Amino acid sequence: MQRWQKKKKQLPLLALIFFVFIVFSILYNECNIRHIHGVQSEKDDNNHSHQSTVKIESLPKSTPPQNFTLPKKPPVGLDKFSKCSSTVPYSGRRAAWAVHTVESGGRRGAPEPEACDLFSGKWVFDNTSYPLYSESSCPYMSDQLACRKHGRTDLGYQFWRWQPHNCNLKRWNATEMWEKLRGKRLMFVGDSLNRGQWISMLCLLQSAIPADKQSITPNAELTIFTAENYNATVEFLWAPLLVESNSDDVVEHRLDERILRPDGILRHSSRWEHADILIFNSYLWWRQGSVKLLWSTEENAVCEEIDGVGGMELAMEAWADWVASHVDPLKKRVFFVTMSPTHQIKEEWEPGSQGNCYDEKLPISDEKYWGTGSNLPTMQMVHKVLNRLGSKVSVLNITQLSEYRKDGHPTIYRKFWEPLSAEKIADPASYSDCIHWCLPGVPDVWNEFLFHFL
Ligand SMILES: *[C@@H]1O[C@H](CO)[C@@H](O)[C@H](O)[C@H]1NC(C)=O
Ligand SMILES: *[C@@H]1O[C@H](CO)[C@@H](O)[C@H](O)[C@H]1NC(C)=O
Ligand SMILES: *[C@@H]1O[C@H](CO)[C@@H](O)[C@H](O)[C@H]1NC(C)=O
Ligand SMILES: *[C@@H]1O[C@H](CO)[C@@H](O)[C@H](O)[C@H]1NC(C)=O
Ligand SMILES: *[C@@H]1O[C@H](CO)[C@@H](O)[C@H](O)[C@H]1NC(C)=O
Ligand SMILES: *[C@@H]1O[C@H](CO)[C@@H](O)[C@H](O)[C@H]1NC(C)=O
Repeated sequence: MQRWQKKKKQLPLLALIFFVFIVFSILYNECNIRHIHGVQSEKDDNNHSHQSTVKIESLPKSTPPQNFTLPKKPPVGLDKFSKCSSTVPYSGRRAAWAVHTVESGGRRGAPEPEACDLFSGKWVFDNTSYPLYSESSCPYMSDQLACRKHGRTDLGYQFWRWQPHNCNLKRWNATEMWEKLRGKRLMFVGDSLNRGQWISMLCLLQSAIPADKQSITPNAELTIFTAENYNATVEFLWAPLLVESNSDDVVEHRLDERILRPDGILRHSSRWEHADILIFNSYLWWRQGSVKLLWSTEENAVCEEIDGVGGMELAMEAWADWVASHVDPLKKRVFFVTMSPTHQIKEEWEPGSQGNCYDEKLPISDEKYWGTGSNLPTMQMVHKVLNRLGSKVSVLNITQLSEYRKDGHPTIYRKFWEPLSAEKIADPASYSDCIHWCLPGVPDVWNEFLFHFL
């Protein structure tokens, strides 16, 4: 932590402003995998905001009167039109789970063979075994992650194998993975990083089954890939803040303020509760400054404001409460994926330089490397919450191993949903995506861990 703080002070103001700008523009602009079915154009999607105001029912009648139009579906809880009537500082209120104790119990962590830590190791160049699939042969590839298609010519990022120090990761085998999934629902729940891992999983799995035995539903809050011959599904649920929020619209979530319901898990849990294997993540959305809490008992739309880590802790507690009360580890497997690192500040791995991950072609080899984007207090908080859940949850601790992969991001080689100014085009680093990951690439390895542990 000391290291993190020290480094942070040295950051030039400009780099910080730049970082915030990039995170905002990329994170809130990344919501697209609709090319899977090519349903709508981005223009159509962005035009929803020009429609007249839809007021939601659950907000109190005392808010200023607004004009109503009929909502598309029955109004429930928070949505993109939700507003706070006023904002007060956080009251210190906690979800019940945080106050009561849960079963203590042995931490399963990941069921590791002997004392070997699979997450501790290094990247080894291996162009005979990798990549595990080809970008162009995967029908579920996202334009946000298809780096080669969008012009990347240095393809080294596809050829790295993760080599733990004192053991081996199980070799990926799609048929064997399907056998593990037979008759089951596997569901990823979280933000765009988790969606990247889901797409990676689809790409890893799809070639092992006939094309006419696989299908996928249109892009929605819950998107479902079905493998008929295994009676199995691989699903993705958009829930970037885990709890109910005003950002749960899968397309339109670029909003001025984040409002969440720290005691509202039901909207999402009702959709994930029947899955057999659950993979959760949440992190980057909590890194954009403070968030607003709208408790379900609040009748006047008065929000409480809290910093991002504090908000994430409340959301994690609501989530943990669900896990503690609903998960029988013999019947359901739950994984939590730790924070996905970003590479926004080149100075951190190459002192004295400027820029970001743009044009990076090799992983970092310093085994202690840890960037300031991966917030240590957040990691400690996550560790604490997961620890209390004991054997009910396994951690996919991908942070350190992904820290090394400054070469793995799309940078400018992805589809951008808004036109780029000439000024930006002239300066590629200014619009480089150093948050998401090219596929094939780093998330494939996260999935190999999953394969290993299942
Ligand atoms: C946005 O929607 C309005 C009304 O639905 C329409 O008249 C307008 O052409 C649309 N604009 C774009 C950019 O699609
Ligand atoms: C509601 O509609 C009335 C007339 O139809 C209009 O004058 C008013 O500005 C509208 N209010 C809002 C908040 O859109
Ligand atoms: C793998 O990489 C080595 C060294 O860069 C190269 O000589 C070889 O041709 C590559 N093999 C394949 C199959 O790409
Ligand atoms: C993959 O797993 C299947 C089923 O367990 C097995 O028959 C096959 O030989 C494996 N393939 C490889 C390359 O190991
Ligand atoms: C398919 O899997 C579901 C559980 O996901 C199960 O209820 C159902 O019986 C299975 N159907 C067949 C034909 O195996
Ligand atoms: C993940 O691993 C790091 C070391 O790389 C450790 O500090 C951290 O506590 C671990 N996180 C969790 C949630 O177990």
